[in-house]
Amino acid sequence: MPAREMSVAAIVPAAGSGQRLGSGGPKALHVLGGQSLLRRSAQMLAELVDVLVVAVPADHEAEVRHDLAGLPCPVLVVVGGATRQHSVAAGLAALDTGTEFVLVHDAARPLMPPAVAVAVLAALRDGLAAVIPVIPIADTLKTLGSDGQVAAAVDRSRLVAVQTPQGFRYNVLAHAHRAGLDPLTDDAGLVEAIGVPVHTVPGDPVGFKITTPYDVLIAEALLAARS
Ligand code: C5P
Repeated sequence: MPAREMSVAAIVPAAGSGQRLGSGGPKALHVLGGQSLLRRSAQMLAELVDVLVVAVPADHEAEVRHDLAGLPCPVLVVVGGATRQHSVAAGLAALDTGTEFVLVHDAARPLMPPAVAVAVLAALRDGLAAVIPVIPIADTLKTLGSDGQVAAAVDRSRLVAVQTPQGFRYNVLAHAHRAGLDPLTDDAGLVEAIGVPVHTVPGDPVGFKITTPYDVLIAEALLAARS
């Protein structure tokens, strides 16, 4: 496909096992209010991008293609890797090298409002190379010593929680991934490591990541309140 037709892409890492959710299958395929987490996340992005690449667990490609049928943009399904970064790298490898911007969005954030993705894209179009959504942290934070006792209080005034979609110029994200993967950080961390400043836009607490059965209950309650 010619590059000019694919200037904005989204990569959705959806290859996690979902062990902490305990739903007996890949977390991204867990159904919430009649639609999988993955379909909800992909639907939000499909309105904004030219192509969507979804990284899924091996042996689930056909199921995912079926689950994502009818979205308003082309969908490529690739097999993910052992870590989230390997899954994003597999998605990157499937993109046209003429792609201009890439949004990377966790399948596990199915309720992220489109306005956040729109703000990330707008910042990229304004010329920024890397943009992430962040929200303030409500809880008091402490670090613990190896004995489990409090070692220090943390000044939370400059701390934020990082969400997705994270947005990048394609060349910057591709360079950062080529420079080396580090499972202790996210895509923005890889980009920082190559010296590119990462900017922020306000995220939204509703875009929380579904990890545990408790998160599913909260998400179901939010959906029920909308209907
Ligand atoms: O495990 P966690 O919820 O932090 O994963 C965040 C996102 O990364 C999820 O959408 C999950 O499916 C994805 N992931 C992946 N490949 C992995 C591990 C996680 O695509 N190996």
